[in-house]
Amino acid sequence: MENNQRGFTSNIGAIAAAAGSAIGLGNIWRFPYTLGQNGGGAFLLIYIIFVIFLGVPLMMTEFAIGRRSQSNVVGAYRVLSPKHKGWMGIGILGLICGFMIYSFYSVVAGWTLNYIALSATGGFAGKDAAAVGEIFTQFTQSSYLPLITQAAFLILTGVIVVMGVQKGIEKFTKILMPILFLLMILLCVRSVTLDGASEGLKFLFKPDFNNFTATGVLSALGQAMFSLSIGMGLLVTYGSYIRKNDDLLKTSVCIAGTDTLIALLAGIAIFPAVFAFGLSPESGPSLVFITLPNVFNNMPLGMVFAILFFVLLAIAALTSTISLLEILVLWAVEELKMKRITATILISFVIFAIGAVCSLSLGSWSDFTIGGLCVFDLFDELTATYFMPIGALAFTIFFGWFYRKEEVWNELSNGGTLKAKYFKIYYFIIRYIAPLALIIVLITGALGIGN
Ligand code: PFF
Repeated sequence: MENNQRGFTSNIGAIAAAAGSAIGLGNIWRFPYTLGQNGGGAFLLIYIIFVIFLGVPLMMTEFAIGRRSQSNVVGAYRVLSPKHKGWMGIGILGLICGFMIYSFYSVVAGWTLNYIALSATGGFAGKDAAAVGEIFTQFTQSSYLPLITQAAFLILTGVIVVMGVQKGIEKFTKILMPILFLLMILLCVRSVTLDGASEGLKFLFKPDFNNFTATGVLSALGQAMFSLSIGMGLLVTYGSYIRKNDDLLKTSVCIAGTDTLIALLAGIAIFPAVFAFGLSPESGPSLVFITLPNVFNNMPLGMVFAILFFVLLAIAALTSTISLLEILVLWAVEELKMKRITATILISFVIFAIGAVCSLSLGSWSDFTIGGLCVFDLFDELTATYFMPIGALAFTIFFGWFYRKEEVWNELSNGGTLKAKYFKIYYFIIRYIAPLALIIVLITGALGIGN
């Protein structure tokens, strides 16, 4: 099949779209608070090790599976393993993961819209820290408003996805990503030039292993998976859109590099400011929604920076929700033979319903918990910490042990046209290192050993 008709028209387009998926709330909302809760610099170090040694090879593997099969998350395994259809289970787990992540993710994405509006209308002006916290609690716990903002975000995402891979996804991400980058740099400059900023930089960059536990390692792995969108078939989906002559190693290194850079910049934009104003870095998911508005309140031109920050967060979220929806839509189009537009509308409705449950679980339904977690937290924890690493474990076993080595070589070397000198190391990692590391981290983290 002519590759370009199915997918991206250029390598830059592929990188922008996949980096757009990778860079999202995970970098700017989840990464800083997870790092804050897990001791700062030590977490960062382990995180970067995971990105380089697991993230890049796993990303290449998913891309290779997608590009080789030219199919969606589920179909990919049927195409590559027609005799043993059980491997399609990996795709089904990916789909479930996709539905769960898109549900809670679109809720948080919706919050960013409300925060843009609040910042622009001076909603935080003159409020003290307690009052700013109260705004967040009241908003997220209320029944209607978060559902409206979630719906708005779903519509925005849906419209772009309906336009298709080239005219929608590729085009918009190529415009949005540079804007995001510029806004981020601006915020970093503001943050590090505040008095007392150095404490925050120390917290971010100085490893302190005293407070670091096995759960911290598991969180770092989960964060790396979530942030790079690995383990649930997004990269299989986008891999099927990558041109046959693009170098998968280079593509993956660019994506993982940009993703990590943006996470670091988010850290540099957030922690110095948090420390400069004497706030706690450990406040958890509310870090960017409560702590930061407080920070903005106390800085000159704070309102402008607040608007910029939340616009940035919304853009980052949008390029990720596009990818989340695309996994599900491509599956429905290819497997259920739906039209793109029908699939988009139907899936968005389902996501709205599940997302509403996530949203309400923070407010009026918060009494309903499973294992001590409300539905929202449960979805977040289950997907990032367990399903994505389990999915990654399964596809490394598939590609490293089950799928023929010559075929793996063939896909990564673009049919022998690239030298792919790294192949031996890559193959060793996905056969031995990655599965072992994933198993060890999953078991020790799940059992809470070493806490
Ligand atoms: N990587 C995204 C982020 O860091 O926000 C989240 C994500 C998007 C995960 C798409 C998985 C996915 F398929």
